[in-house]
Amino acid sequence: MEDNKLQEFAPSPLAPPSGGRGGESIRVFAPATVANVVCGFDVLGFAVDEPGDEVIMRITNKPGITISKITGDDGRLPLDPAKNTVSVSVQHYLQSVGRTDIGLDIELHKKMPIGSGLGSSSASTVAGLFAIKTLLGDDADPIKLLPFAMKGEEMACGHGHADNVAPALFGGFVLIRSYEPLDVVRLPHPKDLWCAIVFPDVDVPTREARQIIRKNIQMKDAVTQWGNIAGLVSGLFMQDIDLIGRSMKDVLVEPVRSMLIPDFYKMREMAMELGAVSFGISGSGPSVFAFTKNEATARAITQKLQQHLTGLKIGSNSYVSTINDAGPKVL
Ligand code: HSE
Repeated sequence: MEDNKLQEFAPSPLAPPSGGRGGESIRVFAPATVANVVCGFDVLGFAVDEPGDEVIMRITNKPGITISKITGDDGRLPLDPAKNTVSVSVQHYLQSVGRTDIGLDIELHKKMPIGSGLGSSSASTVAGLFAIKTLLGDDADPIKLLPFAMKGEEMACGHGHADNVAPALFGGFVLIRSYEPLDVVRLPHPKDLWCAIVFPDVDVPTREARQIIRKNIQMKDAVTQWGNIAGLVSGLFMQDIDLIGRSMKDVLVEPVRSMLIPDFYKMREMAMELGAVSFGISGSGPSVFAFTKNEATARAITQKLQQHLTGLKIGSNSYVSTINDAGPKVL
């Protein structure tokens, strides 16, 4: 994707793609994402190299979608195609392109924790949509897939936000400038920005993490917040990592959601002491992330935070990566 500005989304009829013969199959990876990026609730997100989910999709001779296998979910996700976000999004796409005639079988391989704040459902949904688009030889702009991916989010947590699905779909750093009409802008970022992610193994469902946030905000908090969002976006354009760091402050959502994360403020203090540029909640949590100027600092932070969580008798996973500009890929 060359342009920063992807395009204003105006629904338009898609040409029916003609591909998709019985027996064809494809395996697609789509990346995890960090939504909100601290100050940009529901409007900012970026993709990382790992973790991510994989979908294997096969064209079958019997019209309709089946899900034959899901791994890595501890039995938590439904095999019923009417209830799974991947198949539901793919079905919406097939309807829009006039290809409900084809049959599909889906295998979903979860390679990341569910309910982690890392865009788990988005990665699966985007992998499924990218798989069907590729199988059918549909060369429409990937932005056309975004509304279908948002349907999956709506099903997963009751709200069709795009700050996970958009970066999973396009890669890189993405701003949702507007939801109505949908207007998505890809942002530049410094190449040497590293991301350290730690997932403390506690349950924070996005649906519930959305219910606890305040519905009304004070003007003085709004002023602080939009100053920080503008500062973060400016820092990304100016490649100014220090400006990025001092802009990543959230006075609206983090004060409430941090209560759901064990020792959130202690972990922030430890990360900042080790040289983090910034620290915050990834998406709706419980994962936390830090930006750093190099890989060694990112690894030192994940190690320290995981040790701390072990001391609290809380299991954890960690991931270190730069920002993933590629988005979904065929394996
Ligand atoms: N913006 C969404 C939220 C992301 O914070 O609820 C969910 O991962």
